[in-house]
Amino acid sequence: MKDIVWTLCATHREIERALACLIRIAKESSGGALREPAAFAEGLRFFRVVAPEHSATEEETVFPRLRCAVQPELVRLLDTLEEEHGCADRAHDEADRLGRLWLANGRLSTAETARLTAILEGLSGLYERHIRLEESDVFPSLSLTQ
Ligand SMILES: [Fe+2]
Ligand SMILES: [Fe+2]
Repeated sequence: MKDIVWTLCATHREIERALACLIRIAKESSGGALREPAAFAEGLRFFRVVAPEHSATEEETVFPRLRCAVQPELVRLLDTLEEEHGCADRAHDEADRLGRLWLANGRLSTAETARLTAILEGLSGLYERHIRLEESDVFPSLSLTQ
C-alpha cells in the first residue's frame, strides 16, 4: 500500500503541473495560435488518460480499505471525494472538447477561451482542496487499517 500511496502522491504533483501548464498556455495564447501546441496537447492527453486511472485506483484500491473505518467523518469524506472525481471528470470532458477544438482550428473564440480558462481554474481550485484532503486525512488513515 505504501508504494501505491507514493505513486498517487507523485501523480498529484503531475496533475498540478499539467493543469498549471494548460492554464498558462491558454492565457498566453488568448484564443489565437497556441504558444506551445505540443505541450497543450500533452496536457489534454494527460487528463484523458492518467487522471481517470488515478481516480479509479483511489476508488477501487484505497477508499474501500477505509470504508469500514469507525470514524463516520472519514466515510463522509470518502463520499465527497468520490463525488468530486465525478465533477472533475465532467469538467475535464468539457475542457478537452474546447482544447481539441482549439488545436484543430488554430484559434478559439473569446467566449470559448473564457469558458476554457474558467473550467481549468475551477479544476485548479477543486484539486487544491481535494489533493490536500487526500494527502492529509485519507492516505495517513491507511496506516490504521494495516
Ligand atoms: Fe482523488
Ligand atoms: Fe488523488
